Amino acid sequence: MTLDLRLDLALTPGGLTLPEGKIAVFGPREGHYLEPLPKERVVVVSTQFPDHAYFQRQGFDCVLRADEIYAASVVVLPRAKALARDWIAQAHAATNGPVIIDGQKEEGIESILRECRKRTEVSGPISKAHGKLFWFTGGAFDDWIAPPADMPDGFTTAPGTFSADAVDAASALLAQSLPTSLGAHVIDLGAGWGYLSAKALEHPGVTQVDLVEADHAALECARINVTDPRARFHWADATAWTPETRADAVIMNPPFHIARKANPELGRAFIRAAAGCLKTKGTLWMVANRHLPYEPLLGELFTQHEEIAGTGSFKVIRAAVPIRAKTPTRQPRRSRAR
Ligand SMILES: C[S@@+](CC[C@H](N)C(=O)[O-])C[C@H]1O[C@@H](n2cnc3c(N)ncnc32)[C@H](O)[C@@H]1O
Repeated sequence: MTLDLRLDLALTPGGLTLPEGKIAVFGPREGHYLEPLPKERVVVVSTQFPDHAYFQRQGFDCVLRADEIYAASVVVLPRAKALARDWIAQAHAATNGPVIIDGQKEEGIESILRECRKRTEVSGPISKAHGKLFWFTGGAFDDWIAPPADMPDGFTTAPGTFSADAVDAASALLAQSLPTSLGAHVIDLGAGWGYLSAKALEHPGVTQVDLVEADHAALECARINVTDPRARFHWADATAWTPETRADAVIMNPPFHIARKANPELGRAFIRAAAGCLKTKGTLWMVANRHLPYEPLLGELFTQHEEIAGTGSFKVIRAAVPIRAKTPTRQPRRSRAR
């Protein structure tokens, strides 16, 4: 949450001046402070459901993509290099004034700064709290706009989406380990660009697959990759989403990183959501990195769980019959003594 510290330093007299007009902020994350910017002029550009929803709750104007010309732009550097370049190119194309780039060292701000310096004159950088902020106005960046990528097996992905270059090995292992009969209604939590859903739709008897994904760009790819009319697409936070009707099966390769940091709590929240999405006799089919300690929670939430396949790196788990939390029975009201 150090973007605000660097912006504050940059906006001191003699430094960066913000021109009149709207300011696009690309990719701020839940919890980032945008206080140094005039809120009424800020437009948050974010495809990530939890971040988008967070800034909407804070009263910011939020859009999925830059759709007008801004007086200035701030790019909060994402981890994926291709996505970082794409956002910088988008910001540059949509901005009349300064394009401001902010990022942590661990997210590659140093190398982006070097690359930008080769293309234009850069002001700053402001260095603070393991990160840097710099800004520029000129240069040519159109070649950084990333087109959707077509993978050899016919799937379309976008920069920054999970497994954008190839099918993920863990997801492939899960797909191979699924039983022939999955049941009629399947939910794919954290569906990404749709690999597991495409595989689930090959199973006999499936009548509906719900794809739930937080990254709008990934979900757009899923719409291209999964054109089957049995598929339904939901841009949502899987940990808070509830289906219209409970499902026979949930399939998932849950995320376990927030930014760069491993956070099994996110995977655990997916497991809780999966248990809540399933019918009484429903089954969860999931794959996870072997070191992630999900079994205690699976034991609390499901009657049975077992590893059905695995490698040295991954484990495929089947967890069946969710245990429903018992709703406490209401004590009859005692009549008041008169
Ligand atoms: C490990 S990837 C798996 C993607 C896809 N199922 C596959 O097998 O290729 C996890 C996915 O969860 C998505 N994700 C992360 N947090 C999420 C959340 N809170 N709600 C929904 N999806 C989320 C990520 O964007 C990513 O696409």
